[in-house]
Amino acid sequence: MNNENKLAHITHDAPLDAKDIRKVALITGANTGIGAVTASSLAQVGYEVYLACKSLNRTQPIIDAINLRAGSKKAFFLELDLGDFESVKKCAQQFLLTGKPLHLLINNAGIAGKKGKTQSGFEMAFGVNHLGHFLLTQLLLSCLKLNAPSKIITVASRAHKRSPKHVDWQNALKKSSSWTGIQEYAISKLANIQFSSELSRQLQGTDVSCYSLHPGVVDTQVWRELPSFLRPFLKLRGMLTPEQGAMTTLHCALKAQNKESGLYFSNSQIEMPSALAQDLKLQRELWKLSLEWTKSYR
Ligand SMILES: NC(=O)c1ccc[n+]([C@@H]2O[C@H](COP(=O)([O-])OP(=O)(O)OC[C@H]3O[C@@H](n4cnc5c(N)ncnc54)[C@H](OP(=O)(O)O)[C@@H]3O)[C@@H](O)[C@H]2O)c1
Repeated sequence: MNNENKLAHITHDAPLDAKDIRKVALITGANTGIGAVTASSLAQVGYEVYLACKSLNRTQPIIDAINLRAGSKKAFFLELDLGDFESVKKCAQQFLLTGKPLHLLINNAGIAGKKGKTQSGFEMAFGVNHLGHFLLTQLLLSCLKLNAPSKIITVASRAHKRSPKHVDWQNALKKSSSWTGIQEYAISKLANIQFSSELSRQLQGTDVSCYSLHPGVVDTQVWRELPSFLRPFLKLRGMLTPEQGAMTTLHCALKAQNKESGLYFSNSQIEMPSALAQDLKLQRELWKLSLEWTKSYR
């Protein structure tokens, strides 16, 4: 089956009916890569899609392509810089002001290898990949609860397995220290999985489900900040296309069940994340600190 057919298979088999036409999804980092394919595919099965991205200029071509294909206005832009809590809050407020329901929040945006600190003063990868999404999710949670059944999907990575055995979340207050930034990326992806797992426990008994996932090793721009000599090694492993890379996100969005909430997926199947990712004490610690670090913005 080619990529187009595989996508068609997953989206056409989705249990959508007439009432789903009013369904709404918000996808972060949807101007390129996996997020762009996710947004287009969801629009194709009837979702209204909000593309929460850093730049309107870089997002407009995807919005235009989605609307052209749909023959109506299905895609909308929201400005979002996950490294800046002020921007995250504005993005959530802008969405809530539309008065639209929210059924799918897809925490997709991510950076790898970019070093330093975010605008809000946290280690770059942790601040963008985890804390920005943590805050966004908190700010949209009541809307997701109100419109349940709804889902929160967080695009993590198998790279979480590269986290050191002892993780100290307080390092999030310092700028990135490893040379390649890969260690910080791994820790931020560990945080993605732990966040999704802890959130699902807190939402038990509601119809809001949470999933985290590894999309595969995908030929996108995510690797642009890695030292250039490392990039050919990634290509050697054989990379998926963005269409293939969006499959597991779409599986979680359209097919995963409420009883699977809290689980981690890869290849559109449940997979066990590392033992560290399942460490409940570390999950609670992350949750407590994330609440504390974002408290002035909630
Ligand atoms: N590609 C892979 O092999 C792979 C493997 C495992 C996991 N993942 C994960 O998959 C997700 C999607 O990545 P991708 O591969 O599709 O990479 P990509 O093509 O680089 O897309 C990443 C998206 O994140 C956005 N972004 C970066 N910093 C942001 C910020 N501060 N605020 C808001 N948005 C921001 C980017 O926006 P700009 O374009 O404007 O910078 C872009 O839209 C990421 O979470 C990544 O960690 C990817």
